[in-house]
This record gives sequence, C-alpha cells and structure tokens, in this order.
Amino acid sequence: MKEIIIATKNQGKLREIKELLGEFNIKVTSLADYPDAPDVVEDGKTFSSNAIKKAVTIGKYTGKLVMGEDSGLEIDVLDNQPGIYSARFAGDDATYQKNNEKVLKLLEDVPMAKRQARYRCFAALSDGGKVIGVVNGSCAGLIALSTRGENGFGYDPLFIVPRYKKTFGELNPDIKAAISHRFHALQKFKTMFIAYLSTGKKELGCGCPH
Ligand code: IMP
Repeated sequence: MKEIIIATKNQGKLREIKELLGEFNIKVTSLADYPDAPDVVEDGKTFSSNAIKKAVTIGKYTGKLVMGEDSGLEIDVLDNQPGIYSARFAGDDATYQKNNEKVLKLLEDVPMAKRQARYRCFAALSDGGKVIGVVNGSCAGLIALSTRGENGFGYDPLFIVPRYKKTFGELNPDIKAAISHRFHALQKFKTMFIAYLSTGKKELGCGCPH
C-alpha cells in the first residue's frame, strides 16, 4: 500500500487531515511514525514557503510522498497577525490558551463589526523531496469576545463562523470538516494527488500566489 507522510506533530491538524484523506486507499502516517526525522525550522516568510520546506525536508529524509501543511489565523485589525506566527503568538512557551488570551487582549476595544479574520491553510506535496505542487484554502470568520466551546484546537474557541453564529469550538467537528480552510485546501490537494499518482511523475506546478 502506498504511503503519504503528513509532516506534522500537531495532533489536531493530523486528526483533521487523516479524516479528509480517509477515502484514499493509502496509508497516512505522520512525524510520530518517524521520531528521528529532522526538525523543520519554520523560518519562511509565507505559509507557502513553510509548507514547502516541511514537505521537502521530510521528503528528502524519507524518500517518500509527503504533505507539508502550514496554516494559521489572520486578523484584519491586527494587520493579518498572527499569520505565520499563529502557533507561537504568545511567545516561546505559548499554549493555545495563552495565544487566545493574547488575541482577546489585543482586541479588547475592538467592536464586533471590526473583528473580521480568516484561517488560511497551505498544503505542499513532495515526492522524495521534489516539489509536486502547493495548494491553499481559506475560511472567513469573526473573533469572538471570549472563548466559547471545547471542540477543535488552537484558535477555534474564538473563531465565529458567521453562517452558524457559533465558534468552531462550539460547532460539531463534522461541520468544521466540511467548511474549514483545511477542507478547501485538501480538496485541491486531493485533485493534485490523484493527478500525480495517475500520470506518474508529472510535474504539476504551483497553483497559488506565494
Ligand atoms: P503550524 O503548525 O506552524 O502550521 O501552526 C498552525 C497554528 O495555527 C496552530 O498551532 C494554531 O494555533 C493555528 N491553526 C491552524 N489551523 C487551525 C485550526 O483549524 N483551528 C485552530 N487553530 C488553527
């Protein structure tokens, strides 16, 4: 059976990606299955370059098919922060709770009408370290006035989906799985992946702005 390695240690992401790739007859592994794999320093200036770096580094190390995924939250009134720094927004000892507290503090005086934000997700495919392509997806929302709900991970208790008037923390995970930034990116990833597997080693290029 073919294998694709998801180059992440983030259990929340991995759970969602595994779910979204469920229909493929392919073994989905992660860095937890490769404990000696090199650490990937996320020093790129964009989600795209970080996603590619993860895919290439782990692809070169394993010689296998790899998905590198980089994602995060952009808040309009904070000039799109935390962006690529989403995981460590509150500093080196950041936790999801500290990151959420920092967002709430920075948005303390910002009214609901000005709390627009979006999640973004970039997913790169590499084969043995060679980049096959990069895709992306996004999901628009609003930052809540306080954390709400226990579902999801990261900023989900703060991220209101306007259509439901609920945060991803409150919504059923099946709904997140059908509308999230990761869902939209992975739909495109699946198309790229199927094309790559069926046409052999054809280079597909990058369909996204860097
Ligand atoms: P990365 O591992 O550098 O890509 O960091 C991603 C970070 O962005 C996570 O640690 C979360 O803080 C945030 N993030 C990305 N996707 C989501 C999501 O679906 N829900 C909540 N937070 C997310």
